[in-house]
Amino acid sequence: MKIFVGISGASGAIYGGRLLRALTGDVHEVSVCFSDAAVEVVRHEEFDAGLELLGAPAEQVLEAFFSRHGISPRRLEIVLPGNIGHAFSSGSALADAAVVCPCSMSTIAAIASGISGNLIQRVADVMLKESRPLVVVPRETPLNEIQLRNLYRVKKAGAQIVAAMPAFYHNPQTVEDLADFIVGKVLDVLGVDHQLFRRWEGGQR
Ligand SMILES: Cc1cc2nc3c(=O)[nH]c(=O)nc-3n(C[C@H](O)[C@H](O)[C@H](O)COP(=O)(O)O)c2cc1C
Repeated sequence: MKIFVGISGASGAIYGGRLLRALTGDVHEVSVCFSDAAVEVVRHEEFDAGLELLGAPAEQVLEAFFSRHGISPRRLEIVLPGNIGHAFSSGSALADAAVVCPCSMSTIAAIASGISGNLIQRVADVMLKESRPLVVVPRETPLNEIQLRNLYRVKKAGAQIVAAMPAFYHNPQTVEDLADFIVGKVLDVLGVDHQLFRRWEGGQR
């Protein structure tokens, strides 16, 4: 599969990291784009409230992020959010799927309004116009009426919404287990096999 992964500036950079880890291997062609805000969230959430990589350039932050999540950057195409001329900016490039994970309310609003302000938003717009798979993983709480309406519009336009709402019935032991539940749900929607969580097989009395 040719997959575009957009990582925006919502909390939960770990979701993006675990998703990239699950997708990078020999099977899929993955292009990833971090929004400017996403880089700041990565810096903050993954590196000691930003202190560990204080003042480090974005490339260094992302390198550390990939290393932390066991992702080989050689298996990824890393695209800048301003690279609006990227192949996936056009429907003719035929991406098989696009995922925005995590997806901020700002990016949801842009997608809902058809605003292609950066490459992530443009790719989402293209996937919807081409009726191709788009999965968004929103993270915010509580939600205001504008955000709920935007989510509804994005769903109505054809996207799948996998809300960053981990379950607990698979008995997660670590933060990675919680993140993998959401990533597994994304992969389920895309039809990608995985063993990221134990599936519910019926309860015992
Ligand atoms: C540490 C941190 C956590 C954030 N968490 C969220 C969040 O969970 N959801 C959200 O919608 N925005 C969150 N934001 C705000 C977004 O980053 C901000 O709206 C930004 O403009 C989004 O830009 P983007 O959609 O281009 O990535 C957070 C910002 C920071 C710095």
